[in-house]
Amino acid sequence: MASGSVKTAILPVGGLGSRFLPATKAMPKEMLTVVDKPLVQYAVDEARAAGIENFIFVTGRGKAAIEDHFDHSFELEHTLADRGKNSTVENMRSIMPEPGQIAYVRQQDPLGLGHAIWCARHMLRDEAFAVLLPDIIIDPVAGGDGCLKQLVDAHDDFGGIVLAVEEVPRERVSSYGIIDPGKTTGNRLEIRGMVEKPSAYEAPSNLCITGRYILSTEIFDFLDKGVRGAGGEIQLTDAIADNLGKMPIHGVRFSGRRFDCGSKEGFVAANLHFGLKHPEIAEKVKRTATEIMQQQG
Ligand code: G1P
Repeated sequence: MASGSVKTAILPVGGLGSRFLPATKAMPKEMLTVVDKPLVQYAVDEARAAGIENFIFVTGRGKAAIEDHFDHSFELEHTLADRGKNSTVENMRSIMPEPGQIAYVRQQDPLGLGHAIWCARHMLRDEAFAVLLPDIIIDPVAGGDGCLKQLVDAHDDFGGIVLAVEEVPRERVSSYGIIDPGKTTGNRLEIRGMVEKPSAYEAPSNLCITGRYILSTEIFDFLDKGVRGAGGEIQLTDAIADNLGKMPIHGVRFSGRRFDCGSKEGFVAANLHFGLKHPEIAEKVKRTATEIMQQQG
């Protein structure tokens, strides 16, 4: 298969963000800012670096700010240009995909991640597509490929379905989809089974599925049935599991540092991490963080 064979990505952005209230009362959680970029922008940048050209956002009520973010802001661009801030204008324009490369579909009912992806089914061609959960930011190792690019490369080699996986502490397995790993070669492994949000006792391993997927349209055969799984929701993990034995399914233990920005501690950690790397503010952030730590003992 030709390199960079995956061209379309789905980003589910319909979630309520209730863990971040009141911040998310009038603002989508995907627009929460890590230093100077909204969460959703990190996912889009990672996808573009992996060769993705077409984006499908599965949105919900109150998410218009996401659409505006990926569009022109004429007043702002005009005012900045008048003030000679051309590089800022260029930078803002570079955020936008080409016309027609971005589409939005509504998930009217919050029935789960599998249902969100199913809502985009008519917008896909019959070819592999990516899914990125924007709550999760993965910072590549210096000079290395992004997480989705590592998945696309594995897909070029294996075809089928490819999932990003990572170890989590045993006591955390019930928050994730957990895989049963088979034969492992380097950082790639065959997947023999998977279960959504198992108890620590039921979990087949402590390797969790972590927010980046290369999927096949075959998963819609299962999602069409609307079967409810863990938590009464239509689960993407169950739709993938339904294809075990029917096509290759692999995991990639990706290189890079993951931040779960769906949790407050992950979100604060991401701000600290990217603040400490940001060329304009790194030194000041380091000084301030050190001072605060010393004061708080
Ligand atoms: C979703 C998936 C789960 C995965 C997790 C990654 O769960 O259903 O399999 O491990 O994302 O963060 P959620 O966090 O939406 O409950």
